[in-house]
Order: sequence, then structure tokens, then C-alpha cells
Amino acid sequence: MLSDGKLQTEKRAGKLANLRAALQANPRSADGIGIGHTRWATHGAPTDGNAHPHVDEMNRVAVVHNGIIENFAQLRMELEERGCKFRSETDTEVVAHMLSEQLTEHNGDLGAAMRPVCRRLEGAFTLVAISEDDPGLVVAARRNSPLVVGRGNGENFLASDVAAFIAHTRDAIELGQDQVVTITADSHSITDFDGNPSEGKEFRVMWDAAAAEKGGYPSFMEKEIHEQPAAIDQTLMGRLDTAGRLVLDELNIDESVLRSVDKIVVVACGTAYHSGLVAKYAIEHWCRIPTEVELAHEFRYRDPIVNEKTLVVSLSQSGETMDTIMAVRHAREQGAKTVAICNTNGSTIPRESDAVIYTHAGPEIAVASTKAFLSQIAAAYLLGLYLAQLRGNKFADEVADILAELNTMGAKIQQVLDGAAEIKAFGTSMADATSVLFLGRHVGFPVALEGALKLKEIAYIHAEGFAAGELKHGPIALIEPGQPVFVVVPSRRGRDSLHAKIVSNIQEIRARGAVTICIAEEGDEAVTPYADHVIRVPQSPTLLAPLLTTVPLQLFACAMAEAKGYDVDQPRNLAKSVTVE
Ligand code: G6P
Repeated sequence: MLSDGKLQTEKRAGKLANLRAALQANPRSADGIGIGHTRWATHGAPTDGNAHPHVDEMNRVAVVHNGIIENFAQLRMELEERGCKFRSETDTEVVAHMLSEQLTEHNGDLGAAMRPVCRRLEGAFTLVAISEDDPGLVVAARRNSPLVVGRGNGENFLASDVAAFIAHTRDAIELGQDQVVTITADSHSITDFDGNPSEGKEFRVMWDAAAAEKGGYPSFMEKEIHEQPAAIDQTLMGRLDTAGRLVLDELNIDESVLRSVDKIVVVACGTAYHSGLVAKYAIEHWCRIPTEVELAHEFRYRDPIVNEKTLVVSLSQSGETMDTIMAVRHAREQGAKTVAICNTNGSTIPRESDAVIYTHAGPEIAVASTKAFLSQIAAAYLLGLYLAQLRGNKFADEVADILAELNTMGAKIQQVLDGAAEIKAFGTSMADATSVLFLGRHVGFPVALEGALKLKEIAYIHAEGFAAGELKHGPIALIEPGQPVFVVVPSRRGRDSLHAKIVSNIQEIRARGAVTICIAEEGDEAVTPYADHVIRVPQSPTLLAPLLTTVPLQLFACAMAEAKGYDVDQPRNLAKSVTVE
């Protein structure tokens, strides 16, 4: 904030209550403008020093940032070469120093300073800045990250989401891509990054304040399901170097060690375990390295064969699951190298591992994991592709082709989500079901397991996932008239034999009275005659299909739990992070 024209900064890691206590202990009067941000740590551990805002060396300008600046390492190097001293490990701090330089260039005009800075940045950012040179205004900019203006009476607001100011005003302006907005208490002006005048989209917010906290969704789970396109994009962002090669900056394990790996063991629990099961198909296919997937709590008790040539990959949203922590510790004791795929910066599992790939999915609040699952798959695929590139199993152009396909998945997930209302209505219509079965083959098998887990977790319904080929060896005895069965249908463009076999399975269960619900690709008409209900997903390569086919199952579980009146976000008996063995 500005207090008597001077920039004053207070920031604390952890809960907002910590900041509130610090401000109460050291009260200051504000001049009427201020900025703040609750940051989900992406670069550097969540500490007071890495918390936002960040200021320049002269304490002239302060900035908060939502998103990831992909080229921050290059920009930081340039600034350091000019003698700039950094105080944090964040990507954001480069912006504070760059703004300071540009303020000098532009005689203290913060709006004019912001534009050239934005032109140099790559990645996703919403930036909001204030400076001592321009005490009456706040300047903000956005690219690939949300920003809205709230227009009050003699007061204006900037936020990522209308929820932040809905208690003060319902009149809002949505900023477009690559725009800069300057607000004072009673005015606003918008330009593009080159300074040309521009306009935002005015709208009136219809939500009540409580709904807005969840972004208008009835639950955090549903909000997080809808955040999956963005989550996947964030996981994949910034992974290519200028030569188009896949880089995993965080994976600082010696390349010779990675080349000598002769076995991969994936350890995880719950939903994360299912993402490991999906990843196995891709890693073995791309890298030709034998890959085992193990429930973390089973791993160390079976005296696993693990040595210095084993790469142990842990998957965890929280990074605090005790079973997984213990598995990682055991692996390290046996001399294995450990890589964590994790969503929570600075948590225990990445800290105790040799290397980490962060999923960058953003905070997941609902107990039942959704966006973390998809981003774990994407991150594990990046690891698989990286190893394939490093060990020469795939040529650079083959890796680039798969990455290009992966990069289209966010938009395809969005297409599935565009049909969310219909899928939810179907879920609601099934609310009286007491048992639901899920079948899949190949990567569709772990998707079936995940669909069943979601239903158990939040709708408290007996649900089982099976490999469709296993049906005839036992589970088919469960089928009686009216039994709902979801079938995850593989693409017929992949391996036709897989598709043909599952179509036979659908016929077998239908003949015994099952109600069949098929999740099938657009254009796959072979399933239509045998499906009581078809949910369509866009076409995709076989290995990438789980990123799409999981989504209807998440929505279905959500709708069933809602219809039964259960607490979708905090189901009985479960915890988001299980910190005991
Ligand atoms: C708990 C949660 C699950 C989660 C599992 C693993 O059981 O209820 O939703 O999948 O822990 O959590 P992690 O944080 O390690 O991914």
C-alpha cells in the first residue's frame, strides 16, 4: 500500500490470518490504494520472502502476479548482468526490477512502464502494480490469466475473479488478452501492450456473494473439474527450449544416471495411484523401460527389488501423504534415484526427493481429486517423453509431435466440459442406483478404476472398476437386469483389436440385462447399437484419451452426490491429505 506517499509492504507465508496479525501488530494508515495476492507457490518454497508483493531495489514500485513467467530465467540473468540484486526465488521479482527500469525511462509513468515490460514476458500473467511516482493509480495487465475490473461509486477494484469485490460492486469489466488497464478511484482506461486505446467487456454480476466464492459452481470439486483445461495447460507450459527440445528444468539428476536406469517404480496412493497406472502404458511404450506401479503403502513391505539403477517416481497432489513419503524414504535407502511429481511447492515429498516435476495445477480444495489427476498424467507423460528423448528411444520430431498433441488436450477437455450440463443431468437421473460398474481396456482400465473411486468417495455408492477382459473370469456374474455399467471405449483408430474386443464385451453384458453407458469417441458409431447411453469425447491418440474419458466420470459422480444431498467437497471419513500411515 501507499502510506503518506511511501510504499509500505507487508507479506506473510501461510494463511491470510498471519498477514492480518502482522498488520495489526504494526498498523499503518493507507492513502487509499493497495495491492495484495494470495500466491500458490510455483517458483521457490512458500516463505515470507517469496510471498507477494515484490518490490524493486529502490522500493519504488511493487507488483503482484498470478501465473507463470516462462522466460524469467533469461530475464533474471539479464537483470543480474546489469547489477540487479534479487531477494527471492520467484519468477515474479523480475517484473518489479523491469518496471523500475522502465519507470526511469518513462519519467515515472507507471502505465507507460508496464507496456514494454509485458512485451518482454512469455507465459501467463496477471500483473498488478503500484508506485510512489504515481500515487493515485493502480496499473494491471493480463495475458493467459484472468483479470476483471470492478466499478464502484468513487472506488474501483481489480481482481482475478469477481468474487473478490462482489460485496462492493456488481458492475464489472472483463479485460481482453494482452491488455493493460489503469484505474484511479473514479476512472479507468485500457490499452493494448503497444499503447493503442482498447476496450474491455462490461457486464453485471448476477451471483450472490456466497456462490461467487466457488466461482459460481455449487462445489469446489465442480469448479476444479472445470479448471482442468487450464490445469493441463499450466502443467505443459514452458517445457520446450528454443531448439524445440523438451526440457525439464527441475529434473536435476545427472543425465548419465538417467541413461543407466533399468527399471521404473511408480509409488502413489488413491487417485494418484490411478494416474501412475495410466502413465505406465505411456512410459513403457515410449522408453522401453520396465515400469511397475505400486501402492505406496504396499511397496516397502514386500522387500522390493530396488537399487541404484531404479528410478522411483512418486505421484502426490499434496506432497504430504505419509504412505508415499515412507515409500520414497525406503527407495532412497536402497540407493534408488527418486523423482517426485507433485502439485504442492515445498512440500515434504519433493523436498526429500532427488528431483521434482511440479504439476502447477493450482490449489485443489475438494477432497476428491480431479484436476490433480489429469495434471499428474500430463507431468508423468512429460517425464516419459524426456527419458525417451534422452535415451534415444524417440527422435526429437517424434517427441515434438506427441507434445503438440498433448498441447491440444486442454481445448479438447473443454469440449467435454461444454457438455457438462447434459452429463450431470444424466447423473441426477441415476441417483437411485445402488451399484455401478466400470469397464475399460488398456489405458481405459485405470480410468474405470478412477471412475469407480470417485463414486465411492463422494456418492457412497458401491462401485467397481474392472479390466474388460477380466469380465468373463468372474465379474460378469454380478450383472443382473438393470445393473448400470460404464464402458470406457478405446479409439478404433488406435488398435482396432482393442476396440473390437470391447464392443463384444458391451454386447455380452447387455445380453445379460446391463444398462450400458459408453464413453466413446466422436464418430465411433460401432458402439451405438449396444449402448443405452453414449457420452462423446473428441478424438485423440489412444495414450492421451484418459485426459478426456475421465472427465464425464468425474461429472457423473459429482451429480450423483449432489442429487443425494451429500457434501461433495468434504465427504465423510476422508481427508484431503492423509499424513498418517
Ligand atoms: C487421500 C485423498 C485422495 C488422494 C490420496 C493421495 O486419500 O482423499 O483423494 O488421492 O490421499 O493424495 P496425494 O496428495 O498423495 O495425491
